[in-house]
Amino acid sequence: MKRIAVLTSGGDGAGLNPCIRAVVRTAIEKKVEIMGVRWGYSGLLDSDMLELNARSVGGILNKGGTFIGSARSPEFATKQGQRQALRNLNRMSIEGLIVIGGNGSLTGALELHKMGFPVVGIPATIDNDVNGTDISIGVDTTLNTILDAVDKIKDTASSHQRAFLIEVMGRDSGYLALMASIAAGAEIVLIPEVGTSMEEVVQGVDDAYVKGKSHCIIIVSEGWQPGAMALNDYLQERREKIGFDVRLTVLGHVQRGGSPTSYDRILATNLGAAAVNQLLEGPQGVMTGMIKNAPSPTPLEEAVAFQKKLNLDLYGLWKTMTL
Ligand code: F6P
Repeated sequence: MKRIAVLTSGGDGAGLNPCIRAVVRTAIEKKVEIMGVRWGYSGLLDSDMLELNARSVGGILNKGGTFIGSARSPEFATKQGQRQALRNLNRMSIEGLIVIGGNGSLTGALELHKMGFPVVGIPATIDNDVNGTDISIGVDTTLNTILDAVDKIKDTASSHQRAFLIEVMGRDSGYLALMASIAAGAEIVLIPEVGTSMEEVVQGVDDAYVKGKSHCIIIVSEGWQPGAMALNDYLQERREKIGFDVRLTVLGHVQRGGSPTSYDRILATNLGAAAVNQLLEGPQGVMTGMIKNAPSPTPLEEAVAFQKKLNLDLYGLWKTMTL
């Protein structure tokens, strides 16, 4: 291959810039030209690309977000959009593509692969719900951001003897909520993978009060139903039954920004370099993930076949620590 391209797609996260940097510098070392596609798959449809060199990725290792931009592109999800993308790639003499993103983005990569275009994916999503990798780029930084917030909230919660509902991201996955609950010591965790009723939460908050705890931290995954807002209303209406005053904090997009941790920088660099080698040497149509500390290929079909299951043994571990 003489010329390849890289794009970041879907929700951003810390570590995308170090990954692009690794892709670019590995390609250049192999004497392959490398284009950066702007705004995810939208840039393929508009031929919005820029040539990258070793210097254009200087000074970005410690920066959050993605300097080439990202997007969710409904247009690319159509057959017509994919044909247009292929046409633009061929017109620009691009012979291979690296896609950095989560399930939706990797599904797009699979479509291009099925149309015969050489593609390699790299898992990057704070939700950590992609198959074929132990961890995705961005997860570690997000978890550390959540811990920083929860530790701070705990200080004020204890000072006022309050219960706090803290909503964390994870569209369909309770990974961040469960890991944060283990690492920050939450009294209650609510995740979509485990059905917990609002009445059980009332009981849990009351238990914490009766045990003499000075606070009750409840970490709520965005994907848990009926949701943190509804639970907040429910708890406010039962103030007398639960001992604590209740407050709600939604962490929101603060979880996606910030400088990548050392773990994310090293993970992203490893996967970026390995993905370029995979694209050049083949077989393509795979995702380069991290399995048992080694970059490893998984066919894109398998990577996106279903959402990675949460290890519920860890739910038991969290529970034991709440005693
Ligand atoms: O998939 C990553 C994620 O951060 C989810 O956890 C969250 O539900 C979603 O993206 C938010 O997407 P947006 O930034 O488009 O609102």
